[in-house]
Amino acid sequence: MEDNIEPVTLAKGIYWVGAIDWNLRDFHGYATPRGTTYNAYLIVDEKIALVDTVKAEFAGELLERISRIIDPAKIDYVIANHVEMDHSGSLPAIMKAAPNARIYGTRQCKNGLSQYYHAQGCEGWDFEAVETGTELSLGAKTLMFIETAMLHWPDNMHTYIKEDKILLSNDAFGQHVATSKRFNDEVDDVMEDAAEYYANILMPFGKIILKYVETVGELGIKIDMIAPCHGIIWRTDPGQIIEAYGRWASGENAKKVLVIYDTMWGSTHMMARAIVEGVTAAGIDVKLMALRKNEFSEIIKEILDTPMIVVGSPTLNNGMFPSVGGFLTYLKGLHPRSKKAVAFGSYGWGGGAVKAVEKELEAAGFELIEPGLQVRYRPDEEELEKCRLLGERIAVAVKAD
Ligand code: FEO
Repeated sequence: MEDNIEPVTLAKGIYWVGAIDWNLRDFHGYATPRGTTYNAYLIVDEKIALVDTVKAEFAGELLERISRIIDPAKIDYVIANHVEMDHSGSLPAIMKAAPNARIYGTRQCKNGLSQYYHAQGCEGWDFEAVETGTELSLGAKTLMFIETAMLHWPDNMHTYIKEDKILLSNDAFGQHVATSKRFNDEVDDVMEDAAEYYANILMPFGKIILKYVETVGELGIKIDMIAPCHGIIWRTDPGQIIEAYGRWASGENAKKVLVIYDTMWGSTHMMARAIVEGVTAAGIDVKLMALRKNEFSEIIKEILDTPMIVVGSPTLNNGMFPSVGGFLTYLKGLHPRSKKAVAFGSYGWGGGAVKAVEKELEAAGFELIEPGLQVRYRPDEEELEKCRLLGERIAVAVKAD
């Protein structure tokens, strides 16, 4: 066991008992160069509740941390905020250790758990379905549940500890980062990590997030701390992450341009550099990201507040370069809001990449501001000037928005 196994206290009787996955580098396709954590929380009152579990391979670590506080057999309630296996994977181990515990979750959660864990005897688990506003008294502390369907699965919910004003928000407001620190006042750059996490996981659900922020307002709950299931806990100024989610969800953009490309023999790279020169000359911030030099998740984070992307691909076998196709497929799933784009690229004879890029950008919800620019074999000075001029027009469009 490489980690300090001591639990961490959030407030009197409320403990972090999760696990740190230092070496995770790929979270179902999302690059996690800094690892992640699976946060689970133990609430000890007259009754004892465990909120969420951890990925199955960390069940022993979870049980060991719980054991530093209470005998796991004494757990009365297990709150399943989300069925995805990074949070429910240790549920079979917990139910084995605490066979009399009752599980609380949404109806969709029950359906999901029964489909995931039928081989682990879940038919015998005592499950109670809850909905927004359902309360569960632990004694001095009261849990209230808030359904958050499609943030980011149909079964998701949040658990709010009323007396301590702590929101256990599961995936929402998290970050994929492994650290020995647990609170936002102990680390730097947590908002950067939160932005990348939002862009890669929650970007498709902007409208639902705006509705959620409204629902929390209607419930009139005060939040002193937000404890997500990944990464750092928002102990200081938790309102900042709710405010950031509202901003990201509304599609608020900065004045900047992102050029994303791959290249085969350097021609598309030359075009990309000339477009960057044009944007820069027109006074707009621009960033250049090569697809085989940057993780998709890093590029998506940049797109979060970028209103205009310029996507370049050489033609390979009458279509896009594989890295460009893979990226655009990833982007299409995230469907960013309020964005514009232009395609560019090079070819040798038949062409095809630029049209294919345009088709995918439109399918991803981007508005194409003009037809794509393509050159044959190697761009000459005249063609590079066309690229610079394209960059200038793009900058003018960004300024005008
Ligand atoms: Fe962290 Fe949707 O699981």
